[in-house]
Amino acid sequence: MSLKRQIWAVVTAAGSGTRLGAQVPKALVEVDGVPALVRVLKTLAEVPELDGVVITCPQESQELFESAVPVRLPYRVHVVPGGPSRQSSVYEGLKIVEQVDSRALVLIHDAARCLAPAKVFNRVISHLREGAVGVVTALPVKDTIKIVVPTENPGELERVSQTPLRSNLRAVQTPQGFDLERLMAAHRVALELGKDESCAAPDDASLMESQDYPVRICEGDEQSFKITTALDLQLANLLAKDIPVEVDQLPFGPKGDDVV
Ligand code: CTP
Ligand code: MG
Repeated sequence: MSLKRQIWAVVTAAGSGTRLGAQVPKALVEVDGVPALVRVLKTLAEVPELDGVVITCPQESQELFESAVPVRLPYRVHVVPGGPSRQSSVYEGLKIVEQVDSRALVLIHDAARCLAPAKVFNRVISHLREGAVGVVTALPVKDTIKIVVPTENPGELERVSQTPLRSNLRAVQTPQGFDLERLMAAHRVALELGKDESCAAPDDASLMESQDYPVRICEGDEQSFKITTALDLQLANLLAKDIPVEVDQLPFGPKGDDVV
């Protein structure tokens, strides 16, 4: 009889938030009074199947991030220093999950998407339990997208080369969910090819795609948008007023006590 595969999430929070330009790492920026990372961890408390979370943090900020983790969460928590790229940060997180359960199913989620609702995590988990090896949340694209030819000379206007059919385009978000063994294999191939620094992958699904592992699209949520710029933060602050965070009440009891 095989044991039920554990479900873990890697929450990427090791970026510095250059485009936002805040005084603290982006994951600790307050959104209506609650740090973005804490909002994510509280939302994940409403994902009953979740066994554990690995948070990737900036190299020099491990203690600061550990102290930001709420004390009573219904899943295990580890905080690990990330790497110079999002891809390398995810890989550091995945190595922890692999030690716990090499057959785990894993969700990757950006701390910067701090208003993503619990239902999208539950949706991804149910597709993984049904046998999908890669599932990304996404929405239809609202704008018309152009592919351009890069210009060599500053000041020269870019030239449009193509207009892809909008109905075939999806704007991809996180959470993204994967079979851990295959995702690790895809990360390791990229590492061996040296694709982790200058040309790091924009997301985990693209690493899976490059290994021809099937990646499915499931419905995302408008609230899963990523805080990248000051305008995004303003929007998040407005929306978060309707998303209160219960700091003391949890929907169910604690699962483990080896927090951080
Ligand atoms: N991230 C990470 N490790 C990195 C870079 C990014 O874990 N080396 C995480 C960020 O913390 C964020 C997510 O990946 O949650 C998406 O990245 P992005 O929005 O680009 O965040 P930053 O890299 O922090 O922002 P910027 O690019 O403006 O510096
Ligand atoms: Mg970045």
